[in-house]
Amino acid sequence: MKSIYRTTPESKETIEALWKLAKVILDTLDFKDVVTKIVESLLSELNYLKLGYRIIVLVLKDEDDNVLKRVSLSKTSEAEKLLEATTIPFPKMDVPLTALDNLIVKAFNDQKPYYTNNWPDILTPPFSKEESFSYQKLVEVKTSMVYPVIVKGRALGVLIFSLVKTIDDVSQEEKDLIGGFTDIVGLAVQNAQLYTALEDSSKKLENLNKKLRELDIQKDEFVSMAAHELRSPMTAIKGYLSMVLEGDMGDIPDKARGFLADANAINERLIRLVNNMLNVSRIEEGRLVYQLEKINLTRIARTVFDTFRAEADRKGLQISIEIPEKISDEIYVDPDKINEVIANLVSNAVKYTDHGFVKIILSNPLPDWVRVEVADSGPGISKEEQKRLFRKFYRIESTSGKTIGTGLGLYICKLLIEKFNGTIGLDSGDGTGSTFWFELPLARAKERLPESS
Ligand SMILES: Nc1ncnc2c1ncn2[C@@H]1O[C@H](COP(=O)(O)OP(=O)(O)OP(=O)(O)O)[C@@H](O)[C@H]1O
Ligand SMILES: [Mg+2]
Repeated sequence: MKSIYRTTPESKETIEALWKLAKVILDTLDFKDVVTKIVESLLSELNYLKLGYRIIVLVLKDEDDNVLKRVSLSKTSEAEKLLEATTIPFPKMDVPLTALDNLIVKAFNDQKPYYTNNWPDILTPPFSKEESFSYQKLVEVKTSMVYPVIVKGRALGVLIFSLVKTIDDVSQEEKDLIGGFTDIVGLAVQNAQLYTALEDSSKKLENLNKKLRELDIQKDEFVSMAAHELRSPMTAIKGYLSMVLEGDMGDIPDKARGFLADANAINERLIRLVNNMLNVSRIEEGRLVYQLEKINLTRIARTVFDTFRAEADRKGLQISIEIPEKISDEIYVDPDKINEVIANLVSNAVKYTDHGFVKIILSNPLPDWVRVEVADSGPGISKEEQKRLFRKFYRIESTSGKTIGTGLGLYICKLLIEKFNGTIGLDSGDGTGSTFWFELPLARAKERLPESS
């Protein structure tokens, strides 16, 4: 007898149908939408209801639990009937991968399709055999076809098609289309899983970033608070030490004087560190107030030069300053801050150079720019280390053992120079001395004035 469901698609139609399905499914990225579209599209887009298809279920492997999970179900009246009758809610109808007799597990493991006219084959477990039979009777399903969903040789899950006709009434064309369909499903599921994973990890990264930013703010607040709290007691210590050292308490033995002088030096260093740290956090948080004015860079440079002359002499270093007669050097900056920058550079040059010279050189590298170079004949800095030099707390191993420093000087210089729209850098190599330089726009280059004051 000829079945009423024996109306199979022609092969041209099959290809068109698959094309249509692929478009519908692959256009979607959200995982939930994809799995819904998968089970719906065959029935709605291709009208497989007419061919006797009643319930389509997508089952996917759950990576964590080692179970096959039913993730979506077609919205047919049979499916609804079934959902009302079953004792376990649909999302919980898991099949453990250890249930080796279950056809869902079999199709998944063997990577080939199975057909059955017995629902216990696909519903037990989780349901008992009796329950499975009764559900099958309720929805009058005659055949279930279980197809593995495979991508690049790896099974992701299975698709179950339940029909109200026998397997003999399923044409080869139909089977081909179902096969092609499951291939598309594989790609779609994989895309959706990748997409979801990507979304998940970018969300995680975003959250992590937010946390880090919060932590960074907390840390900055802590540092500036701690630095502030440390400053007063250290200033008090400095006061007491100098009182004692200056003889206010009467004569002190030489040995005690030596210890006190050491204590004083260490205390000075701590005060410097704390001041630097406060400076850094003020600049970074934008809390530093700048007193902008038009000023000649030459004047600032000369002041710094005078300040360091004595120290350089003490070390036996030749210190000099070179300023061309016709220099354009009027800049619009906070003079104290630029003084601090040059002082930092000259202090470094004097500190890290044992023999030879320290030179301060001014020039106009371009009509609207003025440049300061602080050159020395010190140990030089390797290319590798130059990259890290302007970072917070960075000190070079070989020099830091010998000298006292916080590793904040250059970092502060960079923050300040960039604040005034300039650039800072260095030319050096191992053993060839160093030339630190910065360039600032002249005041007449109005468009480059700093935005804040
Ligand atoms: N002219 C120089 N020659 C050789 N090494 C230098 C020179 N200037 C800086 N350095 C190296 O770069 C490091 C960072 O310098 P920076 O001025 O930032 O910190 P510091 O001098 O150690 O401490 P401070 O915060 O007191 O200035 C120094 O520790 C030193 O190793
Ligand atoms: Mg320094």
